[in-house]
Amino acid sequence: MNGVNIVGIGKYVPDLVVTNDMLSEIVDTNDEWITTRTGIKSRHITNGEPTFCLGAKAAKAAIENAGVDPKNIGLIIATTITNDFTTPSVACLIQREIGAVGSMAIDINCACAGFVYAFDMAKRYLETDKNLKYVLVVSAEELSKITDYTDRSTCVLFGDGAAAVVLERDESKIFSSYLGADGTGAEYLLARSYHSETPFTTNHERFDDKMPDGNSRFLFQNGKEVYKFATKTLPLAVEESCSKIGITPEELDIIIPHQANVRIIETAAKNLGISMDKFYLNLDSHGNTSSASIPLALCDAVKDRSLKRGDKACIVGFGAGLTYGGVVFEF
Ligand code: UT7
Repeated sequence: MNGVNIVGIGKYVPDLVVTNDMLSEIVDTNDEWITTRTGIKSRHITNGEPTFCLGAKAAKAAIENAGVDPKNIGLIIATTITNDFTTPSVACLIQREIGAVGSMAIDINCACAGFVYAFDMAKRYLETDKNLKYVLVVSAEELSKITDYTDRSTCVLFGDGAAAVVLERDESKIFSSYLGADGTGAEYLLARSYHSETPFTTNHERFDDKMPDGNSRFLFQNGKEVYKFATKTLPLAVEESCSKIGITPEELDIIIPHQANVRIIETAAKNLGISMDKFYLNLDSHGNTSSASIPLALCDAVKDRSLKRGDKACIVGFGAGLTYGGVVFEF
């Protein structure tokens, strides 16, 4: 066996809580629609505090929980689609705040599957670099930055928050992963970045990038296509990551999915033929926080003892890219 041990875990969410009723004051929606279609009741939204600060607070909580010296963290992997700066990375800003100067620091962008990808990467680094003692994986997101609060079909879904884990190598623990992507579905979930308009540019017409919603910087989603993709890949990633280590999904103690929509999770549970009781949910109070959603749920599961030492757990994510992935590990 060749796994990782979660030495510490921590989260941070902004104080501001936006309820469904508050949203119904700004767009034509209501608590009943949001609850029955998504399972979400409220979400945390930043009151101006940047993404890296959320990440740094979550990281500090995880480091304190682990009881390790930040100087012994050799690698920081941050996941975000809502960085405050194009450069530097959010990982470098978090490193500055937590005093882990000298460590490697990288951001990865795999949208809502980001934490699963980062967890897998951390394990691979720990496996191949024996000088590395601890890896910090921190997921920090402010979806409110790229959400159009006049679009009722998306603004009810998203929230802000951050969570982190400190990992060490542990050869006594099980670990397996199944990760993938399908770029042919890139057009179904996107938010635009900058494009070049220099004094030398003569063609000011938009290049046809085969993506919709040409001028908006806000999140665009084809909800139905993403829904179809999610209900297919979630059970696939659970099944494949389990089968790689010769166990069945029934043998898992807990499944912590990306917290996008309770109906997606119910369909996945049905397809897998396992009870919803095995799926951990906190989306009612957090909404969809992209890559932060799985570690936020992981944190809450540890806190309320739904996840205990020795449990076999599966984390499973899916999102823009389109990306997906599952990791089975022992807590
Ligand atoms: O992180 C991964 C990302 N995303 C996801 O996992 C999302 C995947 N997709 C979904 O979860 C669902 O597709 C949504 C929750 C986004 C939408 O649910 P739906 O059952 O697919 O609804 P719909 O888009 O088919 O809309 C049904 C109706 C429409 O009205 P008409 O055309 O039937 O009159 C919408 O205009 O609901 C209307 N609608 C709303 N009504 C009240 C859409 N948004 C709202 C709203 N409040 N917030």
